[in-house]
Amino acid sequence: MSAIISASGRRRGPARFVILISGRGSNMQALVQACAAEAWPAEIAAVIASRADAEGLAWAAGQGIATAAVAHRDYPSREAFDAALAERIDAYDPDWVLLAGFMRVLTPGFVQRYAGRLVNIHPSLLPAFPGLHTHAQALAVGVQAHGCTVHYVTPVLDHGPIIAQGVVPVLAGDTPESLAARLLGMEHRVYPQVARWLAEGRVRLGADQRVEVEGVAQRLFAMQKETADERE
Ligand code: GRF
Repeated sequence: MSAIISASGRRRGPARFVILISGRGSNMQALVQACAAEAWPAEIAAVIASRADAEGLAWAAGQGIATAAVAHRDYPSREAFDAALAERIDAYDPDWVLLAGFMRVLTPGFVQRYAGRLVNIHPSLLPAFPGLHTHAQALAVGVQAHGCTVHYVTPVLDHGPIIAQGVVPVLAGDTPESLAARLLGMEHRVYPQVARWLAEGRVRLGADQRVEVEGVAQRLFAMQKETADERE
């Protein structure tokens, strides 16, 4: 589908998403399914993985989506990997690059190249618990609520303007696995909602680095403890 360029130089027509994954790709699947089911003004232009054996790649290919792997092991440095990845991404001419379980730390140069259109989902209520093992980190300090954050990517890892968050309760007896499973369902709600807002052109990143979404006052998604109790 060719995009139409308006007089202002902005592209009109469906927004193009490239999704980056490293493994299972369940967030990517949620994005792909919501895009089709809700008929977003968008298309998933490609799914690119940092490992050739990422499980999500076969699923995406089965949906008729263009797929590619840029295996980090094939490159001598982060810079070389990021350059190859960027070349691959740019071949699909995306408006937005969505990180969905993409497990590589990106170089500042890469982040700068996609500044303002690079978005990530992180499985914690940032700024708490950046990095890995977020569910174990949450349990270790006894927080009563855990969650996920969809945010613009900046050069600082797991940092950057927050677009939306989803909250789930921590229940007695939770393990990192049970908490991760509860949160994953929330991730699958929050990320597609944000991507839809992006596709609809409603998300603004202000000079003060705060996000506004046109027509949306509340960007918090919550699961009540009662709901979690019923499900378990
Ligand atoms: C998700 O929890 C995501 O938030 C984190 O890694 C996990 C990826 O899961 N960054 P999947 O590949 O989307 O199933």
